[in-house]
Amino acid sequence: MLTINSSPLQGFTDFRFRNAFQRFFGGIDQYIAPYIRLNGKLEIKPGNERDILPANNRSLDLIPQIITKDADEFLFVAKYVQKLGYTELNWNLGCPYPMVAKRGMGSGLLIMPEKIDEILARVFAETDIKISVKMRLGYESPKEIFHVLPVLERYRLANITIHPRIGKQLYRGEVDLKSFEECLRQTSHKIFYNGDITSVRNFREMKERFPTINHWMIGRGLIADPFLPSMIKADSPFYPENRYEVFNSFHDALYSSYEEALSGRKHLLMKMYSFWEFFIQSFPRSPKYLKKIKKAQSLSVYREVVKQIIDDEAVNRSFFS
Ligand SMILES: Cc1cc2nc3c(=O)[nH]c(=O)nc-3n(C[C@H](O)[C@H](O)[C@H](O)COP(=O)(O)O)c2cc1C
Repeated sequence: MLTINSSPLQGFTDFRFRNAFQRFFGGIDQYIAPYIRLNGKLEIKPGNERDILPANNRSLDLIPQIITKDADEFLFVAKYVQKLGYTELNWNLGCPYPMVAKRGMGSGLLIMPEKIDEILARVFAETDIKISVKMRLGYESPKEIFHVLPVLERYRLANITIHPRIGKQLYRGEVDLKSFEECLRQTSHKIFYNGDITSVRNFREMKERFPTINHWMIGRGLIADPFLPSMIKADSPFYPENRYEVFNSFHDALYSSYEEALSGRKHLLMKMYSFWEFFIQSFPRSPKYLKKIKKAQSLSVYREVVKQIIDDEAVNRSFFS
């Protein structure tokens, strides 16, 4: 059966976003929470705690994620999330940001397969939580993964998600599908494909190229087009008739949720603008409005611009369709 997971995006896919998304769009089997990172102390930050508290995630299936290069930290977070009732913890071996990778975490750890082995050996010996891994092909070279996969073969992982870029690329350039294909030959684990799925059409192309892959993870594409997962599940490129009403209600729910959480108009406007940098892709007739959102100094101006964006698109669509 085809499954679609929501990729974690720090700063975007927190519990407020996830709840609004689940309420209005769905199509997601499991949501991976943005990573938990400890700051040298065995202590969970209040923001991380709030994000994964079961009470804040009642309507969805959530898997917490950790980023670390330290077995003690891993075990601490594993026990913490188990106490909250979670049965799986995802390990981030993909984060490309130099601040993280240069410290040997995320994709920076991929050049040290023996360290990955050492950490997993302790984790598997000292906790019974299920472990899944989310990784890139490497940090410097797409060949690095071929030294890591044999290590991962020794452990009963729940699954591995591969985003076929290297850390150094950040999000630039193409995904390396040839290397991804080679990975499939070199692992017996359940694999999720992740990277640059943005439309039903390009999902279909990917599915055709990788017919054995049934598990997919989508990040930026589902913020840009929140209907995407359910359309992929329905194998249909058609939006529901009430597309813009649904988007509008989703937007309002997201807005209210952040209004409640953030102090001050500026923070709220910045937060909503960061979402609009993605949302605007669903409104191809309105790219100029993004600047207006950025410039909005008051909530009433912001709301007026959003209304214009949605109304313009809805009117144009019904006129031309
Ligand atoms: C702003 C931003 C934040 C991200 N935060 C995380 C994170 O916390 N954990 C993680 O595993 N990946 C993180 N990623 C990577 C995404 O989960 C995903 O692997 C990547 O965007 C490729 O998938 P996509 O093309 O479907 O977006 C982040 C990416 C972006 C752009």
